Amino acid sequence: MSITALDIGTHSIKVIVAKDGKSQSIIKSVEIPNKLGIVAPKNDQEILQFSELISNIFHDYKLDQSDVRLSLPEYLVTSKVIEIPFLNDAELASAIGWQAEQAIPIPKNDLVLQYQVLQKPDKKTPDATMKVLLVGSRKSIVEKINNVFLNIGIEATLLETQIFSVIRSLDFQTNDPETIVLQMGNVSNDIAVIANGLLEFVFNSKTGSSLIDSAIAQSFNLDNNQAREYKENYGLDSAQMEGKLIQVVSPVVDNLIIDLQKAVRFFTQNHPEQKIKRVVLSGGPAAMKGLVEKMTQALGLEVLQVAPFAKAKGQIPDKNQLSFSVCMGLVARKL
Ligand SMILES: Nc1ncnc2c1ncn2[C@@H]1O[C@H](COP(=O)(O)OP(=O)(O)OP(=O)(O)O)[C@@H](O)[C@H]1O
Ligand SMILES: [Mg+2]
Repeated sequence: MSITALDIGTHSIKVIVAKDGKSQSIIKSVEIPNKLGIVAPKNDQEILQFSELISNIFHDYKLDQSDVRLSLPEYLVTSKVIEIPFLNDAELASAIGWQAEQAIPIPKNDLVLQYQVLQKPDKKTPDATMKVLLVGSRKSIVEKINNVFLNIGIEATLLETQIFSVIRSLDFQTNDPETIVLQMGNVSNDIAVIANGLLEFVFNSKTGSSLIDSAIAQSFNLDNNQAREYKENYGLDSAQMEGKLIQVVSPVVDNLIIDLQKAVRFFTQNHPEQKIKRVVLSGGPAAMKGLVEKMTQALGLEVLQVAPFAKAKGQIPDKNQLSFSVCMGLVARKL
């Protein structure tokens, strides 16, 4: 049996079919433009349009339907790491709803809550605390996404927030340096901090790559597709258009850098004895020319791109590899 992992993005839909999670043996990799440009249908009509789009993809690429895994963008869910007094499993189960109400801004009757204990001391002492990851999603949204797939006879085996897939794909160890994982996308970016192999916090930054398209289109009087081509071909190349292109692209990247600096500051405030050492870039926009250099200089940290297929074999995609981390993380999840 094989795994079919889908990452539905506003720009494109990425699919990996793999033999099983452990061997990372890729049977198929596909990237299809998302004609609808949305990732979560809002009404019945959009559910139907979406079902048709997904159904065509399964049909055209003959995708296996037995173990279909999906990711949700971080801006549709809320993830928070909370630190609470030590509780045993039963105590935690009964207290978690109340904890979530404090931490997650989704009304109780629309909340689907998942939680995971990240860190727990061995023994209960008076001031022992534990770290718990809360993930809240909206029932109303999850139901619509599930309906898209149920319409075509597929019941997803896994629906998780994309940043968790990306983090899993990176396989952090407890002795790895403190790291920012930046999952970049067309409409938004997720910024997650990992320390001692564990997720510290994650937040969403509305500085997606399409803002660069709009800036280029407006400045040079181009349509959005032409603008996107300029961005993808030249990025932050200072030689292009006598330096005028980089002048337009830079301010958008600067806003993202400001959000990364906020993450660094927030982490340092909470862990004065620790220091973030590196930034790992993932997602299609991470391939932009000059981006690694610009971030390295602005942040004074090591900046590198993900390598989602470093250990994989088989039908590895020949382009846009950086945008497949989410799928590879979905594949790696043990069910
Ligand atoms: N070489 C490149 N330079 C700059 N941008 C690029 C490059 N290659 C791809 N992109 C941009 O990356 C984006 C597509 O990446 P990706 O497929 O990860 O987005 P998405 O998952 O569809 O978006 P989202 O997750 O925000 O819905 C597009 O904006 C595209 O223009
Ligand atoms: Mg994406």
